[in-house]
Amino acid sequence: MTNHTSTPRSQDPEDIKKRNFIKGLTGGVLGLLTLSITWPFVSYLIPTTAGGREERFIKVPNFPDMPLGVPTKMNFQDLEEQAFLKMSTVYDIWVIKHSPTEATVYSPLCPHLNCRYSWDAKQFACPCHGSNFNLAGKCTAGPSPRPLDSLPYKIEGGELFVQWKQFKAGIPDKVEA
Ligand code: FES
Repeated sequence: MTNHTSTPRSQDPEDIKKRNFIKGLTGGVLGLLTLSITWPFVSYLIPTTAGGREERFIKVPNFPDMPLGVPTKMNFQDLEEQAFLKMSTVYDIWVIKHSPTEATVYSPLCPHLNCRYSWDAKQFACPCHGSNFNLAGKCTAGPSPRPLDSLPYKIEGGELFVQWKQFKAGIPDKVEA
């Protein structure tokens, strides 16, 4: 037969104080460890404001070499660092360069239901439900409830910088999603 015995805990006030101190210390260290592990994920979910993810203009490569007046599909990469996490997102856009200092930049998503459209040498054409758009972005055929969505941009030192935004599909107004 096994005999289980346990040592009674000392009820000396000094010992109780020590035990409470060690408990508090352990809890604090565990809390800090948990925070340091989860913070990159938690902070990514917190919406950013000025200077954050949605406010940044990102350089689009090769703008100086683009032909004038021809809609061209371009890509740019958004590299974001949060604590020790690095995230990379590649976006595509349509750019029409009017001059070295002027351009039109469209979201690649059809405003009807977010399909990607293409340029067929005469117009922008969406393969999903047949919406067509002219160079100015105006819907000339199909169910799209609004023109193509332009994106904010700036040109500095001959280079193009674009702010990525996404808009709600299927409604007449251009509302950020
Ligand atoms: S998603 Fe483009 S026409 Fe429907």
